[in-house]
Amino acid sequence: MLKKFGVKITLLIHFKKQKLLIFSVLLDNKSRNCDETKQNTISYICTIVSAYKMKLKNLIIFGTRPEAIKMAPLIHEFKKNSVKFETRVCITAQHREMLDQVLDFFNIKPDYDLNLMRPSQNLYHLTSDIILNLKPVLEDFKPDFVYVHGDTTTTMAAALASFYHGSKVCHIEAGLRTYNLQSPFPEEMNRQVTTVLTNFNFAPTETSKNNLVNEGRDEKSICVTGNTVIDALFYGIEKVNAPNFTDNEIDNLKKIIRNDKRLILVTGHRRENHGEGFIRICESLRQIAEQHPDAQIIYPVHLNPNVKRPVYELLSGIDNISLIAPLAYPAFIWLMEKSYLLITDSGGVQEEAPSLGKPVLVMRDTTERPEAVTAGTVILVGTVKEKIISETERLLNDEHAYHQMSKVINPYGDGKASERIVEFIMIQTDEL
Ligand code: UD1
Ligand code: UDP
Repeated sequence: MLKKFGVKITLLIHFKKQKLLIFSVLLDNKSRNCDETKQNTISYICTIVSAYKMKLKNLIIFGTRPEAIKMAPLIHEFKKNSVKFETRVCITAQHREMLDQVLDFFNIKPDYDLNLMRPSQNLYHLTSDIILNLKPVLEDFKPDFVYVHGDTTTTMAAALASFYHGSKVCHIEAGLRTYNLQSPFPEEMNRQVTTVLTNFNFAPTETSKNNLVNEGRDEKSICVTGNTVIDALFYGIEKVNAPNFTDNEIDNLKKIIRNDKRLILVTGHRRENHGEGFIRICESLRQIAEQHPDAQIIYPVHLNPNVKRPVYELLSGIDNISLIAPLAYPAFIWLMEKSYLLITDSGGVQEEAPSLGKPVLVMRDTTERPEAVTAGTVILVGTVKEKIISETERLLNDEHAYHQMSKVINPYGDGKASERIVEFIMIQTDEL
């Protein structure tokens, strides 16, 4: 076709690290004798050029509720940059219902859904299923960059599969450490293994950056971003507080909440607390409820059977304890705002609550999130009954102690973490 138009074309193709980057086209002046021919030729060339012009390929992989909440702002940020990046989302569905609730709210439609959750799943099957099922996805899409988040089995297994495939691994929420492989279990191991496999580390705080530097990671591979959980929270709070926002779960909560009582919001699920730990937690909550009829405990119970079973067995039928199903994100953050204090072993909840000025008692012995403890908005109470009860009572009875802990200070971010991650990746790709 080009010969027919009598046009001489030279394509200068630059190969750099096997990536086709720049095309230049030269038209022979002698052949420019007809406007129509010129027009056709140029549009033909444009078609060739755009067909070959390669976007960088991002694959964002996650599997559980908290990963979805914390990845949602990053997905939206990358989608805004669709000229430079082709971004696809793969969910392992390590969680099912609790993950789908988040996808709905943030309007995320996964490109790949591995649908792996099994009832009462174990770590052996889950880990191997994730690796095996990611192989065809990685081979189909051939991502340049794979993004994993935090510390779950999905995080670690997806990082390993991506490493096998040769994609660059980007770890969001990198560098959190307790240096105790048993606590949190297996999350501390997941974090350390993921770090070894990671090319680019996105550390939420200076503390987490320092952990990585002390472990010998190259400083140039680390970017301090803040935590994307705060990006999600700001987005969520604005949406939930908008005058035209309606939500069935929030309407139902309004019927459950007793306005004459102070709300204590409880969540818990950590594996190292399963068994004895959960029994002590439930006994503490029962005692708090009995001794404080002026307080109402609301507990959206995690779907893990190792949590659901003891919680419903030990806490059902108590007048001022409301056990409810896990809430979708908008209803949960609405309820956080309405609460007086939070008792939790959740990582994400202890990062969110300080932004809302809510004191948090954390039912864990160790923490990879020391920043809020230092800032004075979080206290570690472990699963020791006396400690959970005495610290709760202090906050219920001592106004000064309560105000000391309810300062709105958030060491975990300013809502711009996702922007920083995308900017950092842009710089890396310019240097490719
Ligand atoms: C997982 C993560 C943990 C993370 C938590 C967030 C691992 C090893 N654990 O713990 O790091 O903090 O998610 O919540 O990666 N289930 C459902 N529906 C759901 C979700 C779970 O029925 O939507 C039940 C299933 O029976 C499932 C079980 O919970 O087998 C356990 O799920 P799993 O992801 O293995 O452990 P979590 O305790 O949820
Ligand atoms: N969350 C939610 N519904 C609930 C309980 C929690 O949407 O019923 C949100 C919460 O706002 C936080 C995240 O889930 O962002 C925390 O998830 P989880 O405690 O399961 O995991 P972790 O953060 O401990 O890994």
